[in-house]
Amino acid sequence: MKTTHIIEVKDLVKCYDKSDHNAVDGVSFTVKQAEFFGFLGPNGAGKSTTMNMLVHLVKKTSGTVKIDGFDVATQSQHVYERIGFAMQEIGLDDTATAGEMLRLHGKLYHLTDAQIEERIAMLLKLVELERVADQFTGTYSGGMKRRFDLALALIHEPKVLFLDEPTVGLDPHARQLIWGHLRDLNKRGMTIFLTTHFMEEAEQLCDRLAIIDNGKIVDEGSPKELIAKHKAKNLEEVFLKVTGHHLGEETLNSAGADPYARTTQR
Ligand SMILES: Nc1ncnc2c1ncn2[C@@H]1O[C@H](COP(=O)(O)OP(=O)(O)OP(=O)(O)O)[C@@H](O)[C@H]1O
Ligand SMILES: [Mg+2]
Repeated sequence: MKTTHIIEVKDLVKCYDKSDHNAVDGVSFTVKQAEFFGFLGPNGAGKSTTMNMLVHLVKKTSGTVKIDGFDVATQSQHVYERIGFAMQEIGLDDTATAGEMLRLHGKLYHLTDAQIEERIAMLLKLVELERVADQFTGTYSGGMKRRFDLALALIHEPKVLFLDEPTVGLDPHARQLIWGHLRDLNKRGMTIFLTTHFMEEAEQLCDRLAIIDNGKIVDEGSPKELIAKHKAKNLEEVFLKVTGHHLGEETLNSAGADPYARTTQR
């Protein structure tokens, strides 16, 4: 099925149980095939909630999400065949090795044994985990787990890759490695949807951005367009101009927010 927009989101709303606020409050956007699209916003803005609804891990309150023309709610099997995702909270089986988990995921996507072994070798090299492929993932550091989670999301060569803050907790070398690889995947035609609160990550990687605050998209455009439009020095200043507060400040937009939350550092 051909569509000009590989991701189409319309009037998406999420109100968590027992909350009197919408964590995501009427978000609409589209992403073109092979675009690198970013959701930039502070802690609590609604980035993860949006992404989790896009991959059907969180049930929407209302609105529609289509991936490659298929409705996420009613045609989820078609959607799952086309997407890969790495969540903010990594849920790995600590008692399996990287190789075992990659093999299992490959089989779930009906890859042949030869395809699986070829991709495992390529992916472990890519995320620089070849030497620990036969160790339990429970022994990995936080950064290693994050890199491995990315490898898992790529085993079936998805058309659309969803990444929730993929480089949080990574050291500068690992961050550059992942950025370089994401650029390559994107150049080869993979559509990438990424959430981040790192201005630099958004600026370096994304063709187009939606700036999200308090569950709403407050502006959208390429990093250059946004900076020019708001006569700003950088995206941080764009964010300040469109929201009245800094990107590093948390959004306390729901009853679920931590009442003791402090302003975070980026
Ligand atoms: N399971 C949940 N139940 C109730 N409220 C929730 C739940 N998950 C998130 N929220 C609330 O929804 C709002 C948006 O949270 P979300 O995790 O989507 O933000 P985020 O932009 O991903 O933030 P961060 O940068 O910290 O990851 C927050 O106010 C949060 O407290
Ligand atoms: Mg999040």
